Amino acid sequence: MSTLPLRHVAIIMDGNRRWADQRKLPRLSGHKEGVKSLKRLVQHAGAIGLEYLTVYAFSSENWQRSKEEVRYLFELFSNVLRDEFDELAENRVRLRFLGDMSTIPTRLRKSFERSMDDSKNNTGLNLQVAINYGSRLEITQAAKRLAVDVAEGRLNANEITEDLLATYLFTGDIPDPEMMIRTGGEMRLSNYLLWQAAYSELYITPILWPDFTPENFDKAVEEYAHRNRRFGAD
Ligand code: IPE
Ligand code: IPE
Ligand code: MG
Repeated sequence: MSTLPLRHVAIIMDGNRRWADQRKLPRLSGHKEGVKSLKRLVQHAGAIGLEYLTVYAFSSENWQRSKEEVRYLFELFSNVLRDEFDELAENRVRLRFLGDMSTIPTRLRKSFERSMDDSKNNTGLNLQVAINYGSRLEITQAAKRLAVDVAEGRLNANEITEDLLATYLFTGDIPDPEMMIRTGGEMRLSNYLLWQAAYSELYITPILWPDFTPENFDKAVEEYAHRNRRFGAD
């Protein structure tokens, strides 16, 4: 049993390009360095017994970046999955992708699906990677699916509760994150887990994502342990 004060941490992995700019490296190489940072953290999270880690890798708004950057990122996702899946599986990681998969290139979508299926019985860290994810898109698709279920008689409108609606989100039965970390210092949520993070503790650090270490993560968890969560009560 882990003695951590929380089960689920969500992370906005921001600041990759600024990291590269600081070092006068090609901007996009910051994303590659960001993968190294994620790899370190996934190993650490597994070792300390965290149950759920949900990371923002590509937002539904990130399509507005240059064609070159979008292509670079999708190639990176594909290569990382190919190169890292076996080790993740050895570490018993259960991998899930959250987001609108309908506009992900078919080959990549298929490899996402295969990796989710191949790791679905793993009992270690639950790693969710948000790709083509946006909360408004997620809530809108949930509303549509609920409407279809009502129209086709599977559901009564007055049976729609918060708990039921939550099961229509990409996160399904995954518990809400107790803490949301954002690296790179921006004070915003950028359309990430707006429903699920309703009462998450926010931890924003200026550290750029490629520089974020397991020690930084532990410090955030330590701070979380001292937060006073009231949920609107006294
Ligand atoms: C986060 O880093 C990764 C993605 C959004 C894909 P950025 O690419 O946003 O890097 P900065 O914030 O511009 O430094
Ligand atoms: C949020 O970062 C998305 C990811 C980390 C994948 P952005 O860099 O896209 O967010 P904004 O544009 O600063 O809000
Ligand atoms: Mg950014």
